[in-house]
Amino acid sequence: MILITGGAGFIGGNFVHHWFERRAKLGLPAEPVVVFDKLTYAGNPATIQSHIDSGQATLVHADITDRDAVRQALQQYRPRAVLHFAAESHVDRSIHGPGEFIHTNMVGTFTLLEEVRAYWAGAESPLDAAAKAAFRFLHVSTDEVYGSLGDDDAAFSETTAYAPNSPYSASKAGSDHLVRAYHHTYGLPTLTTNCSNNYGPYHFPEKLIPLMILNALDGKPLPVYGDGLNIRDWLFVRDHCEAICQVLEKGTLGEVYNVGGINEIKNIDVVTTICRKLDALRPRADGQPYESQITYVTDRPGHDRRYAIDPTKIQRDIGWSPAETFESGIDKTVRWYLENTAWIDTVRSGAYRDWINTNYAGRAA
Ligand code: NAD
Ligand code: DAU
Repeated sequence: MILITGGAGFIGGNFVHHWFERRAKLGLPAEPVVVFDKLTYAGNPATIQSHIDSGQATLVHADITDRDAVRQALQQYRPRAVLHFAAESHVDRSIHGPGEFIHTNMVGTFTLLEEVRAYWAGAESPLDAAAKAAFRFLHVSTDEVYGSLGDDDAAFSETTAYAPNSPYSASKAGSDHLVRAYHHTYGLPTLTTNCSNNYGPYHFPEKLIPLMILNALDGKPLPVYGDGLNIRDWLFVRDHCEAICQVLEKGTLGEVYNVGGINEIKNIDVVTTICRKLDALRPRADGQPYESQITYVTDRPGHDRRYAIDPTKIQRDIGWSPAETFESGIDKTVRWYLENTAWIDTVRSGAYRDWINTNYAGRAA
């Protein structure tokens, strides 16, 4: 049994799918997962419904800042590992309302660490010596903690100094430091991954790639911030999930692993790639190219110019490298959004929120 915080979100949800598919491919038993998720606007149970229905996944609707709920879940399910994805994740939202980011990403990670520490080594720990030795706490973090690169700067490595620029990245940096401190001070068996921009299925359409696909199909403007020349390193989400599985299996305790796609692309090139893919797969009724919908808009305040990851350590020490190129990954992604209208409709209409009312009527998150 493993416990996944934020497992109803974009990466956590993809991770649940990847976990079972990978284990089946490797001939391993379908080790069950517990998804511990507050189901904020970004958490969508539909993403993992098939695994809930099959009984492989259990959804605990709760908040990582709720100490009692965390303790109860750990005592009840006795996971051999906790994989911590839960976070407020959208940079623009953090600019408009940083409080929730500090609360979930920092206070929430602190609360989780405290309860995990008690579960792992406290006086009432239910774990025997072998289970304690095997236990892992894996913290999922971001390359944004390293700040912004100039055109000629070397890519971020694990020893790059932290320089977060947004309330989101500052709150993630704080959580990374807490994880580091819990390993250094208490010996908690931690692993941390800092990954670049993910994209793929089940991505909430506030982020660049799903927003552009869905706005294009809806005939809406495609809002490109500033000059569109900011650079992100794009990684297909399943490649990130595989990296997490391998770090969980082979990572050295207390270490940090940077995960990246070696796919540095300017935002405007991401958007035009999506437009051309849609021109080929779903041409506009009027025959005009989707690029005609591109609109340059006011820049994001404090917008980081460039991110790039040096993945040497994870490639050398863990043996992971991405399976998808940006071309193959974006093709899969655009096709997924064209084909999975049921999931998209629940997100657009907000109908997936009904799931909470139906299944958890009267219970507080
Ligand atoms: P997401 O916003 O899609 O999902 C976050 C999930 O966490 C949701 O299911 C939400 O309901 C849940 N959640 C939020 N607050 C919670 C709380 N207080 N208690 C319990 N659950 C809560 O995020 P994502 O894009 O899937 O990112 C997952 C993790 O990966 C985050 O920690 C993020 O910082 C990190 N990350 C994301 C990217 C990316 O490109 N998306 C890249 C690198 C790292
Ligand atoms: O680098 C990893 C990070 O990637 C994660 O830690 C974050 O959780 C994740 O949200 C993502 O952050 P970004 O800010 O890079 O992603 P976003 O999709 O919001 O924006 C990608 C780029 O596109 C960024 O330079 C801003 C730009 N952008 C974004 C939106 C939503 C636009 O030009 N227009 C838009 O409408």
